[in-house]
Amino acid sequence: MNMQALVQFIRNRVSIKLGLLLLFVFLLILFSLGNILYSLFLTFYLSHVNEELVQRANSHANVLSDHFEPTTIQHVVRMEKGSRNMVVILDQKKQVIASSSPITSLHREYLKASENKQEGETSIEKDWNTKPFLVSYSPVLQNREVAGTVVMFSPTAPIREAVNILQQMLVISGIITVFVVAGILFIISRMLVRPLLEMKKATGEIAQGNYATRLPVRGGDEVAQLAASINHMSDRVRFYQKQRNEFLADVSHELRTPLTYLKGYSEILAHSQREGENAEYAKIIYEQSNRLQRLVQDLFDLARMEQGDFSFRMERFSLEDAVTDALSLVEVPVEEKGIRLEYRPFSTSLYVKGDRQRIGQVLLNVLENARRYTPSGGIIFVRMKRNEHYGIVEIEDTGPGIPEEDIPYIMERLYRVEKSRSQVTGGAGLGLAISKEIIEKHKGTLQVKSVEGEGTTFVIKLPLYN
Ligand SMILES: Nc1ncnc2c1ncn2[C@@H]1O[C@H](COP(=O)(O)OP(=O)(O)OP(=O)(O)O)[C@@H](O)[C@H]1O
Ligand SMILES: [Mg+2]
Repeated sequence: MNMQALVQFIRNRVSIKLGLLLLFVFLLILFSLGNILYSLFLTFYLSHVNEELVQRANSHANVLSDHFEPTTIQHVVRMEKGSRNMVVILDQKKQVIASSSPITSLHREYLKASENKQEGETSIEKDWNTKPFLVSYSPVLQNREVAGTVVMFSPTAPIREAVNILQQMLVISGIITVFVVAGILFIISRMLVRPLLEMKKATGEIAQGNYATRLPVRGGDEVAQLAASINHMSDRVRFYQKQRNEFLADVSHELRTPLTYLKGYSEILAHSQREGENAEYAKIIYEQSNRLQRLVQDLFDLARMEQGDFSFRMERFSLEDAVTDALSLVEVPVEEKGIRLEYRPFSTSLYVKGDRQRIGQVLLNVLENARRYTPSGGIIFVRMKRNEHYGIVEIEDTGPGIPEEDIPYIMERLYRVEKSRSQVTGGAGLGLAISKEIIEKHKGTLQVKSVEGEGTTFVIKLPLYN
């Protein structure tokens, strides 16, 4: 996964976004708290260590102020013998009189530095990080005169060790908390996001027309309320869909009988009156009632197919035969319009199982569209192919094409790209809706590919049957 894909992945997931945000905030808090704790501890600890050292040096200096003599000096030196600290006692001229441990070159540096110290003042070297010792200088005063100096060395290694341990502990506990918190956040955000994912899936299915989809409603929070609303909406849509179908089926059913009479009698009228205005009118009535009858029949078929109570007469037939039948019907009108028809059959016969007449109707609908929308001088290609499971008929034209924004809707009933319903440019917008229903009832697919200004290809796929 490259960087861009990763960013996209994170962007598209609420759970990760939420988790990362919370984790970031938490880390910020953890980091600042850790920092504050660390500096507080360090300050207290160091000041404590320094103070202790200075106090000890001062108390030795006080004792020596009273008795600056060998026995007292030996006594002081003995006091520091076993301890971690080291004491060195200097005389007035900064010469070493006694020390509790052997003096090394490291110590000597500090002793030399004491020569430049302000006379009669206590001072301390407190760089614990880079220097080997903390060093405290306390003057031994006798009658306001400096008689000597008590120099106390305390090694800094144990301090650094303690600070190191503290840092390690902070880092380890930080890492552990980050993992624990990340885990908890991940679980929480998953819990929040999971119902949303379910809803996304369910609404997708509802949009596909699968209204039986149900969302579980857990509890009464906003997310549960949303799920309940979606369920409710799905019910309403299902209700309206059913009502619309029933209405269409009823209306078209009721219209059929009067239409048959209208058509029949106008036909008789048109034939019996051979001349004059009345004959003209009778002919118009006949043509229009014919048109109306086709429309009503289409609506009726569509409503019944969508309701599922439409029976097909299933048989095994050669797809090629169905194609040539349909072609023979459109051949003449196509050529009359000045359009060339090119047909390429498949090398062997492809057998499918279905209602041959209905499949023929689909082929005719698509071919009729190609003829209707392709201007003269164009070409209609009809090709047959197959893949592993499907027999395929492709009908391609060099017509005006379908605008991209219309493509998703052209198979909806009554949808037309050209919105004016003039008789010249087209019909009612039912042909593809019916075709799609028929093909889907046969477990096949009807697809359209179109480039505006170049042409349109309809691809019909039907499951093979051998
Ligand atoms: N080959 C094509 N080239 C360009 N546009 C097409 C083509 N086939 C279909 N269309 C567009 O899709 C719309 C829907 O087609 P459909 O066959 O469903 O309806 P219709 O042809 O207008 O009417 P009906 O088929 O009911 O007489 C058409 O109105 C047309 O705008
Ligand atoms: Mg049509």
